[in-house]
Amino acid sequence: MKEICFLGGVSTLIPIANPNLSHNSGVFLGRNYFTNAPVYLDIFCGPPTLPNPHIFICGTSGAGKSVALKLLSERNIVTNGSSTFFIDVEGEYSKLVKKLGGRIIKIRQGESSGINPFEIEPEIKGNKQFVNILDKVADIRALLSTICHNHMGRTLNATEITEIELIVNELYAEKGITTDANSLFEKKGGKLDNGKYVIGKIPKKMPTLSEFQEKLKNRDKCSELAELLIPFLKGNSLGIFDCESTIFSNDDIVSFDMSEIKDEFTKLYSSFVILSWVWQKFVLKNKDKKKLIVCDEAWLFLKYKESADFLANVARRGRKYNSTLLIASQFIDEFLNSEEGKTIINICSTRFLFKQSSGNVDEIQQFFDLSDGAKELLTSASPGECIMSLNNNITAISFEVAPYEKEFVFT
Ligand SMILES: Nc1ncnc2c1ncn2[C@@H]1O[C@H](COP(=O)(O)OP(=O)(O)O)[C@@H](O)[C@H]1O
Ligand SMILES: [Mg+2]
Repeated sequence: MKEICFLGGVSTLIPIANPNLSHNSGVFLGRNYFTNAPVYLDIFCGPPTLPNPHIFICGTSGAGKSVALKLLSERNIVTNGSSTFFIDVEGEYSKLVKKLGGRIIKIRQGESSGINPFEIEPEIKGNKQFVNILDKVADIRALLSTICHNHMGRTLNATEITEIELIVNELYAEKGITTDANSLFEKKGGKLDNGKYVIGKIPKKMPTLSEFQEKLKNRDKCSELAELLIPFLKGNSLGIFDCESTIFSNDDIVSFDMSEIKDEFTKLYSSFVILSWVWQKFVLKNKDKKKLIVCDEAWLFLKYKESADFLANVARRGRKYNSTLLIASQFIDEFLNSEEGKTIINICSTRFLFKQSSGNVDEIQQFFDLSDGAKELLTSASPGECIMSLNNNITAISFEVAPYEKEFVFT
């Protein structure tokens, strides 16, 4: 057990700290900083203990964020059989995913990924299924707005917003896709593109970005946006997602490895499309299964209001679908300096604050309403040590790595 007298200023944390903060079920995290007691977290325990299952993690580079994400996902997979999807910007989750028998999908520039942002699956409303084309329009608009923001330094204008809505609706309507879940299928038997035979229901082909851009160009009202999208079309440098979805995967553990993509915007564009695709293909399709979506380096989404809003929306919609978003960022400023960023942090009932640089620790202390002792811990913490906040109950813990886990959690 740690001696309080060695903790110096950190002992001032104690009046606000709950030394027994832990759940009775869930996965092992590590030890309480003060009492050395084991700490467990049951992210799916629900309200009132945890109003929502989302997790926010921040800390400087090397503070232990990715290790915590790996431990949280690995232990939830082993304990709950949770499906897990890693939006792996740096390619650092491959070892873990291989170890767990999961699948790694490499995202490469200029190469088709088999992931289509126009993919749509039925949602559940009450006990009925329906195709939420309105939400899809909003997601496509946010994606195109992110592109527009990055390339032209402006948001979409009124004509573009209207055209996007009309065209996306038209693309689904032309395929006979309506709000009726049955409209997603052709009612006949036959051979699928992947060579398999089915009888009864064949999923319809979804619209693609090329079809969208073609219509935008032909309607001739938004020539600037139509031109802007050319690099994003099949065969061009960013044509990664202009394709039908060819990944027919029942895999439960998947990482989308973006390590070969070098520039920040392409990483953001890819992360955005992948998150939207994971939402359609895995979250909506498996409502009752426990699912984790790991989004390390989430500050990328905070670059633009539209992408930040999208991330917040996924978090908002996720609770109903047993989906946990694990969001980590080394740049806390990006979150605290934007309304969407603060919204995202507030949505997350579980927070782990790792070591912070002295430059932004005051702002963090204020935002999270921390004591001086907690602030001191944040500037002096060793890798793996953090402030844990569960539904605003605070203590300090140290994530513990078991010897057998070292080979796949340390990079
Ligand atoms: N819980 C921990 N116990 C021991 N060492 C840790 C722990 N967490 C992180 N480390 C050490 O710090 C390094 C960086 O951790 P990492 O999680 O990758 O940092 P980041 O916050 O940048 O994601 C690890 O490779 C490991 O050596
Ligand atoms: Mg990291």
